[in-house]
Amino acid sequence: MLQLQKVSLEIQGDIDFEILKNINLEFHEKKIYVVTGPNGGGKSSLAKTIMGVYNPTSGQILLDGIDITAKNITDRARLGIGYAFQSPPRFKGIKVKELLKMAASHNPEKVNICDLLYDVGLCAQDYLNRDVDTSLSGGEMKRIEIATVLARNLKVAVFDEPEAGIDLWSFQKLAETFKNIHSKYDTTIILISHQERIMELADEIIIMSNGTVSAQSERDIILAGIMNNDSCACSAKCVKGVGQNAECVG
Ligand SMILES: Nc1ncnc2c1ncn2[C@@H]1O[C@H](COP(=O)(O)OP(=O)(O)O)[C@@H](O)[C@H]1O
Ligand SMILES: [Mg+2]
Repeated sequence: MLQLQKVSLEIQGDIDFEILKNINLEFHEKKIYVVTGPNGGGKSSLAKTIMGVYNPTSGQILLDGIDITAKNITDRARLGIGYAFQSPPRFKGIKVKELLKMAASHNPEKVNICDLLYDVGLCAQDYLNRDVDTSLSGGEMKRIEIATVLARNLKVAVFDEPEAGIDLWSFQKLAETFKNIHSKYDTTIILISHQERIMELADEIIIMSNGTVSAQSERDIILAGIMNNDSCACSAKCVKGVGQNAECVG
């Protein structure tokens, strides 16, 4: 459904820097993908390239077989590609119900905003008239943002580190929320995350490092690889005297 073919992204500056290198990826309908890997590996840049915030230096992006490489963020949003930010925006003087109505404005008859709030784990009657401001906790704000993404009835929704800035309790609820929406909605979900609980939701896991896809496979295969990767990088002899730090010799 969404394909990236030989996508590279170079940032021009004092020194030209290739952030994404020859990325080939294919995302299918109704699946959950988790993109993980070390900081600086290129995950957020990949998300922004899918969204149209960055246009690739070379390669193609196809949506349902149609080349959307040259389309900007607004065009891609219209085509059904949406992004939820690492730090959710807050709005002055707008209520939760107004925000959701705005998000659902292109298909109002299909969207019931009370159902949306329930789907993200919030009691609609408690939240419809709340202001979208700092009176909402980080976890509540994330749920409302997820609800706005669902209201848009997207083909592809990208969430960049949804776990950022929320406590453990809210995080566990958030993982359940993604599970719930996956079973109820047709949207393909791309989650960028370091969290094992989020990885467990994936149909497929993609590992990015150094601007490349270093592994992509079904969840269980990747998770088994991560769990079993306990071999010692130090092949030399390891010496530790009593009360001393260990030392690699030879
Ligand atoms: N607009 C930019 N200008 C220059 N360098 C950038 C820009 N965006 C990202 N980078 C660099 O590209 C690399 C990948 O960043 P990013 O995609 O944010 O990684 P991740 O999300 O995996 O932590 C990093 O080295 C980062 O500093
Ligand atoms: Mg990032």
